[in-house]
Amino acid sequence: MSEFVNVSIIYYSSTGNVYSLAQAAVEGAEKAGAQVRLRKVAETTPQEVIDTRDEWVQHLQDTADVAEVHLDDVEWADVVLFGTPTRFGNPASQLRVFMETTGPLWFQGNLAGKVYSAFTASNTPHGGQESTILALANTFYHWGGIIVPPGYTDPVQFQSGNPYGTSHVAGEGAPGDVTLQAARHQARRAVEIAAAIKAGSTA
Ligand SMILES: Cc1cc2nc3c(=O)[nH]c(=O)nc-3n(C[C@H](O)[C@H](O)[C@H](O)COP(=O)(O)O)c2cc1C
Repeated sequence: MSEFVNVSIIYYSSTGNVYSLAQAAVEGAEKAGAQVRLRKVAETTPQEVIDTRDEWVQHLQDTADVAEVHLDDVEWADVVLFGTPTRFGNPASQLRVFMETTGPLWFQGNLAGKVYSAFTASNTPHGGQESTILALANTFYHWGGIIVPPGYTDPVQFQSGNPYGTSHVAGEGAPGDVTLQAARHQARRAVEIAAAIKAGSTA
């Protein structure tokens, strides 16, 4: 059933943490049987700012072959997972720029009825992970989306600890096993719920 579910995982990442979560989400969605597109949003930061951090320069080089997102990736999808670093407690402007190009799809009603979920990374444990995910959810409401958070629907959630969406504290190093498992679970759950909705609507 899940093979009829299309998933777009759309992310922004400066230094690779959110990208790692996005890759784990791809694994989770594929394992659930979905068709998956991994898409990055365009980098808009001035080069002189990027150049201040070697990890940023390196990450951009490492992900040069990841396709950039287009509106079609949202239109095609039954499930859209958004990943973004926390920026002063909010989603990164790079992701917002893309989201604000979706007006025509919204106007035609093409964003409604899809499953949406989000994940993030911040540098510090209380650095705004939940506010970032909830800020994205404001937009999902406007789209008429079906918000599917991970909640505590898997034992890994009691370890990773964020029912709003997978979150990583980058100041503690790269995402570890528990966080990556949580990202896989979040994607799998979104696929399973989308599959059930699709099955119900064609019955
Ligand atoms: C402009 C800016 C604002 C940031 N704001 C916060 C913040 O509010 N809280 C926090 O913990 N980290 C903050 N950070 C750190 C990033 O959220 C953190 O480095 C993140 O994990 C990067 O993810 P990435 O490796 O996928 O780029 C900020 C970084 C930048 C550049």
